[in-house]
Amino acid sequence: MTQALDKTQNSFYFDYAATTPCDPKTLEYMLPYFSQKFGNPSSSHAKAWEAKGAISVAQDQVAHLLGCHSSHVHFTSGATESVNWALKGFFDNLQIHKQIELKNCSVISTSFEHECSLQTLNYLKLKGLNVELLKPSQKGLISPDQLESAIIDLKNKNTPVKLVSIIWGHNELGSLQDIYALGSVCKKHQIHFHVDATQVIGKVLINLKEDPIDFLSLSAHKLYGPKGTGALIFDPQQFSLTPLIHGGGQQNNQRSGTLNTPGIVGLGWAAKFAQDKLKENLDKLLCYKNKVIEGLTQLDGIEFLTPSDPKESLPHILFFGFKKWPTNISPADLLKNVYFSQQSACHGQAFQKPIILNHLGISDIVPNSLMRISFSHLTTQNEIEELIRLIKRTYEEALLMI
Ligand SMILES: Cc1ncc(COP(=O)(O)O)c(C=O)c1O
Repeated sequence: MTQALDKTQNSFYFDYAATTPCDPKTLEYMLPYFSQKFGNPSSSHAKAWEAKGAISVAQDQVAHLLGCHSSHVHFTSGATESVNWALKGFFDNLQIHKQIELKNCSVISTSFEHECSLQTLNYLKLKGLNVELLKPSQKGLISPDQLESAIIDLKNKNTPVKLVSIIWGHNELGSLQDIYALGSVCKKHQIHFHVDATQVIGKVLINLKEDPIDFLSLSAHKLYGPKGTGALIFDPQQFSLTPLIHGGGQQNNQRSGTLNTPGIVGLGWAAKFAQDKLKENLDKLLCYKNKVIEGLTQLDGIEFLTPSDPKESLPHILFFGFKKWPTNISPADLLKNVYFSQQSACHGQAFQKPIILNHLGISDIVPNSLMRISFSHLTTQNEIEELIRLIKRTYEEALLMI
């Protein structure tokens, strides 16, 4: 892949979990679909067939990455829409077609989902659904036993669980669930299973022929594809979801609206490149992450919150904080030319305790010292060395301000 970032400005981008630059090759494949190949894929003439053909190639590329049938790939505007569709569409379908009242059934999820899930679950709760949120362990993990006992408990309370929805790789913490074990519990109890796989695509080998997953949400812009494009993966022969977006009946009446051909072409190529380079990129990411851990580990009072076991963590995210840190300043105030994510939202003048620390029950880290660093295969060894140097220097400066 060609370099996508302008690295000449003496700034360092370590926020690839927030978004990634579109791969120049992917962009090149997308461009004709804005202009020369602009046909509406739903029309019936040669200009339309050109676009339709490109969409079908993209469906194959995404299906290939995930090990599913092309007909299972439904394009959306991103993971937020996919998650909304999976959750609302699932329970709307139960109400409309199976006459099941929401107050008589439950959904199980976790208390530390991405906002797109939490807000959708809040909405469903207002509509009467019983929403059970499992609390993750301090490592940000949900155990199969914990899931199973919640399922049994809700069954005994006469509000049986119809759907379990879990974030596979956590966007802040970087924890990675044992999705196979959790999905197997769902299968054992004949409960449908949705996963928010937005952060794991291209980082973890996925084979939906074997993984016990019924619905999977993903987004192109975390994968070196364009923003505003994603997909919801499910077998329409096996599962019914009420559409979220009604209209002209595109995508077999599942999701209406003129298809975003350039975006979809971009997602397809992003999937293809992610698949071709999965192993190579993974090795790089793990090497960078380990180097940063090694480089910072001797700092007094540093706490790495991302689990250390690679089976329990995403390769591209490292989340950490400090036990000693001045309360009125954040790492972003000191590390001006490093782009990373900060967990302490500053409301007015006062730093609020980040929600994630509450979820994990962690109390000894100074909230506004938290940093989420996320890497890419585009990251260089020099950038890693510079990052370590800058964080060490920043920490020394911060200690002097206490
Ligand atoms: C885990 C997770 N789910 C969902 C989303 C939302 O994705 P999108 O930006 O495509 O709507 C994100 C993006 O930050 C994410 O990290």
